[in-house]
Amino acid sequence: MKTKIADKFRTLFGEAGDFFASAGRINLIGEHTDYNGGFVFPGAVDKGIMAEIKLNGMDKVRVFALDMDEYVEFGLREEDIPAQSWARYVFGVCREIIKRGGKISGFDSVFAGDVPLGAGMSSSAALESTFAFALDNLFGLGIDKFELARIGQSTEHNYCGVNCGIMDQFASIFGKAGNLMRLDCKTMEYRYYPFHPQGYKLVLLDSVVKHELASSAYNRRRESCETVAKAIRKNHPEVEFLRDARMEWLEEVRDVVSAEDYMRAEYVIEEVRRVLDVCDALEKDDYETVGQKMYETHYGMSKLYEVSCEELDFLNDVAKECGVTGSRVMGGGFGGCTINLVKDGLYDQFIAKATASFAEKFGHAPKVYDVVISDGARRLE
Ligand code: GLA
Repeated sequence: MKTKIADKFRTLFGEAGDFFASAGRINLIGEHTDYNGGFVFPGAVDKGIMAEIKLNGMDKVRVFALDMDEYVEFGLREEDIPAQSWARYVFGVCREIIKRGGKISGFDSVFAGDVPLGAGMSSSAALESTFAFALDNLFGLGIDKFELARIGQSTEHNYCGVNCGIMDQFASIFGKAGNLMRLDCKTMEYRYYPFHPQGYKLVLLDSVVKHELASSAYNRRRESCETVAKAIRKNHPEVEFLRDARMEWLEEVRDVVSAEDYMRAEYVIEEVRRVLDVCDALEKDDYETVGQKMYETHYGMSKLYEVSCEELDFLNDVAKECGVTGSRVMGGGFGGCTINLVKDGLYDQFIAKATASFAEKFGHAPKVYDVVISDGARRLE
């Protein structure tokens, strides 16, 4: 990938620039908890975005997206927003840096990536983090790492229409090889967890379905959570986010919130608890419990939060039938991957069974990605 980027860069812009990269992410457990002030448990992966970048001394940004074979130029004022959706991520990052007082000017870039798009592995966060990290580095801005993550998150909010939480950008910026990270999204305290489960593998099965309108459905989930948190707050002023609520407090507002909003909140309150249970289980190398919690998350995401789909439920059922330790839909949902915790001895059999039966039912095979927990945003030598 690096050679291809360098060749294109030389052709388009001449003298070479510097290389930066960032990563997509997995999440072991803690889904839709981040914007509820809860816990998440992600790690960066070995699939990401790589960019060559060089300052050009103009007030213009010139970017070539190798995978799309598309070139875009834009200025750095708010009204210069480009039409191409991929370019909005780069533009958004520039604008969010400027809004925070960062002094930047034009640059040239060629970038490419290998995070599967729409798979729920946060290709967009990888893109944002690559540019946020690179611009901070090249302009010597000294922005702290959490702020780099927030720059990516605000890009999603303000330029891409997704009111996402902080998990993806956090994972992409803070990722460390061999480590998962538990982040408390209320206090922003985090801890690295070396993750080398003896006798197990983590594998993703990508349904290769991506549902339209996923971002508006995502934003509606977030609104439901905020509505319920507000209702609970009337009785319990300490409840800033759903994370602060207890199940009994949710019960108290059953009649004042819609049945749908109630289900959404029920899922979130349980999911926050599950992340902590998984942490305890990991301390004891108790992967059976980790796996069981993953299945519970799938059930909640499918039946209460309603962000699964037929293909993902099918993959989850196959995992269960094969005796896989844990399996669930990963990321925002509405398509994408399941994440599976599989015993080494069962791996080949499970992959063969899942691939064949999925292909028979849906007419195409799922893609298989072995998880390699890797470093996040960095400058390449
Ligand atoms: C998307 C969002 C994240 C998070 C997950 C669900 O990936 O970008 O902030 O909410 O969905 O856990």
